[in-house]
Amino acid sequence: MSNALNRRQFFGSAIAGGAATLGLASAARAQSPNNRIVVGVLGLSRGARLAREFAEHDNCVVKYACDIDRNRAEDCAAAVEEITGDAPEAVQDYRRVFDDDEVDAVVLAMPAHWHAPASILAMQAGKHVYVEKPCCHNPHEGELLVDASREYGKVVQMGNQRRSWPEIRGGMQRLREGVIGNVYYARCWYANTRGSIGHGEETEPPDHIDYELWQGPAPRRPYRDNVVHYNWHWMWHWGTGESGNNGTHGIDVGRWGLGVDYPVRVSSVGGRYFYDDDQDTPDTHVLTFDFPGGKTLMWEGVSCNRLGVGGSRWGVAFFGDEGSLVIDGPRRGGYDIFDLEGREEESVDGPVGDTPHIHNFLEAVRNDAPDELNSEIEEGYKSTLLPLLGNIAHRTGRSLTCGEKGRIEDDADAEALWAREYEPGWEPEV
Ligand SMILES: NC(=O)c1ccc[n+]([C@@H]2O[C@H](COP(=O)([O-])OP(=O)(O)OC[C@H]3O[C@@H](n4cnc5c(N)ncnc54)[C@H](O)[C@@H]3O)[C@@H](O)[C@H]2O)c1
Repeated sequence: MSNALNRRQFFGSAIAGGAATLGLASAARAQSPNNRIVVGVLGLSRGARLAREFAEHDNCVVKYACDIDRNRAEDCAAAVEEITGDAPEAVQDYRRVFDDDEVDAVVLAMPAHWHAPASILAMQAGKHVYVEKPCCHNPHEGELLVDASREYGKVVQMGNQRRSWPEIRGGMQRLREGVIGNVYYARCWYANTRGSIGHGEETEPPDHIDYELWQGPAPRRPYRDNVVHYNWHWMWHWGTGESGNNGTHGIDVGRWGLGVDYPVRVSSVGGRYFYDDDQDTPDTHVLTFDFPGGKTLMWEGVSCNRLGVGGSRWGVAFFGDEGSLVIDGPRRGGYDIFDLEGREEESVDGPVGDTPHIHNFLEAVRNDAPDELNSEIEEGYKSTLLPLLGNIAHRTGRSLTCGEKGRIEDDADAEALWAREYEPGWEPEV
């Protein structure tokens, strides 16, 4: 049976356990009609799931299901109607959502090249933002995203949902209290069996797809039949590869547990070994990050073999001078503690899912209090920056030396990849 946390279980356990993320007073506040939050959800594959989740939260109304793919917008609107009895408006153009003064917050689950530009436009239209990971396609626009959240004073959270899982928060607290001594190394990994994306052909976009709006900020390229949907993840023009995709989750937890911010050195090895096709990004990729104070983080992504580590396809192992702690390994939402000989000393199980993270976001919006977020957007950006730097190291074939705030030093080719070119007229500005 899945140990996914549904909304009622979360509310029940949070209230019974007195979790910091939810008290009785805030639960009552959430019920008040004055505290209704109106959201628009954009990008309706991952976003369709988020739309259903937001719709299930008390006093949260999903007013728009927006996707440049008309079929996806209509399907999502119907799915939300099944839950609430009210269908959101199915729209293709994000401006319909951003221009509506009744909308308090937007949920952005479009492709990665849209994340930071759309977040900034949404804030300029007065909206709070829940943006999927990775929160930006390149470091420059991630910095702009953080600046925008300060400039416009909005609640902005990335979809790094593990930051709100109660048992993982507990595991982090144990690390801080020294349960495995001084933590000096974290290893995180992801394994999958993804297929080939083949060789695409230039065609006309299907009628139900507005390709101009799909491209948005990215410089124009002809429509190819193996990019939309999903495969853009594996092309640098729009995506960030497995490192920015699933890597961001593990790297975020690793950085959190190590208690580090910006790296001083970043290295990458790997390649596209499995298939000969249109994919730019590696299918086998190992990144290492050294931090000030003698701490190292390693991420391994193996996209074409599910072996994983220790029987688990996803995990983060922390190494301390008195033992190790493995998060989200075999039990996903929990953690295990081992001594230096690798003998298990303790095992804690925990629920998984998006509910607590969404709840945390909605409460912060209700209170207009970005500092109530479990992971404020600057933390999301720092965790996104790491795989982006790893990708730059991969693309230049050189290890990077980084200075203040992760800025690349003494490597003009690598520094040139700090930002991207935009389609004229689409440059994000704060
Ligand atoms: N937090 C998580 O656990 C999690 C899980 C899955 C995906 N994601 C993230 O969600 C994002 C989307 O991934 P996906 O797998 O759903 O990709 P996808 O390509 O399947 O879906 C993206 C959707 O966005 C739509 N879209 C594109 N431009 C748009 C625009 N201007 N306005 C509205 N809709 C637009 C597309 O038509 C498509 O339906 C990615 O960044 C991914 O990393 C996060």
